[in-house]
This record gives sequence, C-alpha cells and structure tokens, in this order.
Amino acid sequence: MKVAFLSALVAVNPAMAGFDTWSPPGPYDVRAPCPMLNTLANHGFLPHDGKDISREVTANALFDALNINKTLGSFLFDFAIKTNPKPNATAFSLNDLGNHNVLEHDASLSRSDAYFGNVLTFNQSVFDETRSYWTSETIDIQMAANARMARIRTSKATNPTYKLSELGTAFSFGESVAYVVVLGNKNSGTANRSWVEYFFEHEQLPLHLGWRRSAELFEAIDLNRYTDEMENLTNVAVQEAARAASRAPRGGHFGW
Ligand code: HEM
Ligand SMILES: *[C@@H]1O[C@H](CO)[C@@H](O)[C@H](O)[C@H]1NC(C)=O
Ligand SMILES: *[C@@H]1O[C@H](CO)[C@@H](O)[C@H](O)[C@H]1NC(C)=O
Ligand SMILES: *[C@@H]1O[C@H](CO)[C@@H](O)[C@H](O)[C@H]1NC(C)=O
Ligand SMILES: *[C@@H]1O[C@H](CO)[C@@H](O)[C@H](O)[C@H]1NC(C)=O
Ligand SMILES: *[C@@H]1O[C@H](CO)[C@@H](O)[C@H](O)[C@H]1NC(C)=O
Repeated sequence: MKVAFLSALVAVNPAMAGFDTWSPPGPYDVRAPCPMLNTLANHGFLPHDGKDISREVTANALFDALNINKTLGSFLFDFAIKTNPKPNATAFSLNDLGNHNVLEHDASLSRSDAYFGNVLTFNQSVFDETRSYWTSETIDIQMAANARMARIRTSKATNPTYKLSELGTAFSFGESVAYVVVLGNKNSGTANRSWVEYFFEHEQLPLHLGWRRSAELFEAIDLNRYTDEMENLTNVAVQEAARAASRAPRGGHFGW
C-alpha cells in the first residue's frame, strides 16, 4: 500500500521526479550530444545511467520536466530510436544519439564536429563562438539564428568532411529554436541568456537562477512556427550576404 501510494505521488508530482535532485554522470553512465537529454538524466527525469530509454519514459520525462506535449515527446522518440543500431530496438541509450550523421551533425552549438573530437561532451571553445552572438541579456530568435549560421560558416571553413544533411539541417533549426522557446518562453520567443548559458555549461536546469517549468504545454505547432521564423531570418541573411558579395567587385570604399 505504502509503495503504491508513493509511486502514485511520484507520477503526479514532477517536483519529486528530480527538480531538486541533480548529480553529474558517473563513470558507467552514458550521455548524449543533446544538452537537454543529458540534463534530464542528471536530474533523474531520465534514467541516470542514460541507458535503455523507452518511448513512455521519454515522453513522461519531457512532459514532467518541460511540459512538452506527450505526442510530441513520442514523435521525438521515433527519431531517437533510429540511432540504436540494434534491429527492432524499442529503447535507445543517450550515447546512441552520438552516432555521426544519423541525427548527430556537424556545426553543433556546443560540441566539436566529429572530425575534430568528441561529439558527446561539451566543448568550451565551440560554445564560446555560439554565445558571442547572444548580444543581450535576453536571447531572441534572430540571435539564435546568427549563432547557428556562424557555427555553420566555421565548420564549412575548417572541416574538410563538413556535412549537414536535410535531416541534420531540420534538427539543427529545431535545436536552436528549442533553447530559446522550450528552455525560454514560447510566447515572447525569448530566453534569459544567463539561464541558457548555465544550462549548456552545467547540464542542469537553472532553477536557482529563477527558471521554472513552463505553465503552458509546449506543442508541435510552437516548434514549427519558430522554426519557420528562424528559417526566414536565415534566408534573409543569406540573400543579403549574396547581394553584398555580388556588389563587391564594383569597388568603392565599403565594397559596394
Ligand atoms: C527525445 C527528445 C530529443 C532527442 C532525441 C534529441 C536529440 C538530439 C541530438 C541527437 C542532438 C545532437 C545534434 C548535434 O549534432 O548537434 C541534440 C542537440 C540538441 N538538443 Fe536535443 N533532443 C531531444 C530533446 C531536446 C529538448 C526537449 C531540447 C530543449 C531545449 C533539446 C535541445 C537541444 C539543443 C539546444 C541541442 C544542440 C546542442 C549543440 O548544438 O551543441 N533537445 N538533440
Ligand atoms: C498533443 O498534441 C497532439 C497532436 O499534436 C494533440 O492531438 C493533443 O491534443 C495534444 N495534447 C494535449 C494535452 O493538448
Ligand atoms: C525485426 O522485425 C521484423 C519485422 O517485424 C522481423 O521480420 C525481423 O525478424 C526482426 N528482426 C530481429 C533481429 O528481431
Ligand atoms: C573543441 O573544439 C575545437 C574546435 O572544433 C577543437 O579544436 C578542440 O580539439 C576541441 N576540444 C576538445 C577537448 O575536444
Ligand atoms: C535573468 O536571470 C537572472 C538570474 O540569473 C536575473 O537576475 C535577471 O533579472 C534575468 N533577466 C531577465 C531579463 O529576466
Ligand atoms: C516565413 O516566410 C514565409 C514566406 O515569406 C511567410 O509566408 C511566413 O509567414 C513566414 N513565417 C514566419 C513564422 O515568419
């Protein structure tokens, strides 16, 4: 009876599932190229060892910690499961997500390209480039788009094996949107820069800085809307750069 009562309490009370609990991965725990899934494992919303994560556990963790619609969580699981090389797998482990060019891609925001190093661990110099584009205390979609484009430019210029597939491109837009509107606020389309930096650098939810689980459910439509917006901002920047380049040969003081 007591056990049943306690597990019912855990199921209905996300606070007991890990907002107040956090520990870094131990030597036998595995982690992902995804700072958020690592964060959820560090808090215990996902298994702390990072292993054998089912559809239900994934959707519940994203809902309990971040108020993400469980249908959307289940949809994301369908991608995650593709990274497990075992045929007909029903679960994935966080390190499966690092298998290069399945979901994991070049030009990440906080990991080096597979060509240069470990894609599972945080890389400060890569992240320093990203955050140099977060030019005010509040990060918006334009700043996130600028940071993403800069990382792509750097990877293209330095990595002879640079690749960003169509799926990788879609994921990379989704990831840049996610830190703004999942960790931040989906109504304003902005996020507190100190929260986002703390999250990336510590793989911990920034509760002590005032972050709280969103009161509103995060839906697929939110992800799609902000992804469209970021794609639009990116296309505008690419077109402007192309126009500037085509004007350059005509000479003049500023390359017009
Ligand atoms: C089941 C759900 C999820 C899966 C399967 C997943 C998977 C991944 C994978 C494979 C990457 C690596 C991509 C790369 O090569 O950079 C990644 C990165 C990322 N994910 Fe997740 N993710 C999930 C949920 C989330 C959520 C809810 C957030 C919310 C903030 C998030 C935020 C990010 C960010 C910001 C990155 C970029 C990290 C970087 O570029 O350094 N993810 N995710
Ligand atoms: C979650 O999303 C699905 C599909 O987008 C939708 O049908 C469902 O009503 C949403 N769930 C809630 C609780 O709003
Ligand atoms: C995987 O599932 C397919 C279709 O259900 C089946 O034919 C195949 O034998 C399964 N493979 C393994 C390794 O279980
Ligand atoms: C971090 O990334 C940079 C740039 O890709 C790379 O040169 C460096 O070796 C990486 N550091 C580690 C510890 O992997
Ligand atoms: C961002 O969070 C910090 C706490 O780290 C807080 O002091 C600051 O007021 C917040 N900024 C905004 C714009 O809400
Ligand atoms: C993106 O651009 C398209 C085409 O110009 C436009 O129809 C759409 O409303 C824009 N979306 C957002 C979210 O800005």
